[in-house]
Amino acid sequence: MKIIKSIAEMKKISNKIHSSSMTIGFVPTMGFLHEGHLSLIRIAKKMSDRTVTSIFVNPTQFGPNEDFYQYPRDIKRDKKLLKKEGVHYIFYPSEEEMYPKGFLTTVKVKKLSGILCGASRPVHFEGVTTVVLKLFNIINPDIAVFGEKDYQQLIIIKKMVMDLNLGTRIVSGEIIREQDGIAMSSRNSYLSKEERKQATCLYRSLLIARDLIMAGERNTSSIISRMEGFIKAFPSTKIDYIEIVDPETLSPLKKIKGPARILLAVWVGTTRLIDNLQVNV
Ligand code: PAJ
Repeated sequence: MKIIKSIAEMKKISNKIHSSSMTIGFVPTMGFLHEGHLSLIRIAKKMSDRTVTSIFVNPTQFGPNEDFYQYPRDIKRDKKLLKKEGVHYIFYPSEEEMYPKGFLTTVKVKKLSGILCGASRPVHFEGVTTVVLKLFNIINPDIAVFGEKDYQQLIIIKKMVMDLNLGTRIVSGEIIREQDGIAMSSRNSYLSKEERKQATCLYRSLLIARDLIMAGERNTSSIISRMEGFIKAFPSTKIDYIEIVDPETLSPLKKIKGPARILLAVWVGTTRLIDNLQVNV
């Protein structure tokens, strides 16, 4: 396993892999890896000849009052985990390498970047698409794997790839959860013991919604009210949003008539957590 810090070197390696007719599978991350990330790496490994993982805590996707400086980092541990998985290259650039002085360009997927998480995190998705497009241009992967944990991010990346005719195929991996159902996230490390207990309410509310739908409820506002009622009983929580949307377009649904995705963001103490669940009726 090689650690590459320079864009020029990463490009050279990518060209060399392609010139020997091998494919590249890529998993972008911000590090502090857990089983969720590793599950995506296993998918990439199965589907390609050489795997690249990037570790870059991307400053442009954090708002001014968000947790960029606090975001957990442990490159030593990450390296060990990636070596064990048999990853071939870690792309680990510095902030100056990715955003040299005078950097001006961004890419934004309109509309989709302003709804759901984008409503309370206005610069977030523009930062994500800009860095992902840069990473795709540097690594030139045949496939890139993204988790359904960040469902809106996955849809936005797919839209960018389609709209800009990028040659990378986007593959998704399902949400990996802890034993008690909470979706694995690097940000779970911010939670106190008590908050960690209360954080299970996100997934539990999704299961309540699924049960209601399975029992025949089709009215999304009734389902959302039930979820709200359940979550509000947990004193450290504050709901950012709960929405039931079309899984492809992310448009809100009034009535459930086919596949639907339930998405929510909830503050638990000072930590904002997200989760989602697909229902197919
Ligand atoms: P990060 O939060 O590190 O996540 C990297 C990838 O891991 C994303 O595709 C995310 O959806 C996936 N992931 C996280 N938790 C998961 C879980 N519990 N189960 C399955 N997949 C999970 O997402 C980002 O980084 C950044 O926005 C990035 C795309 C790297 C751009 O900076």
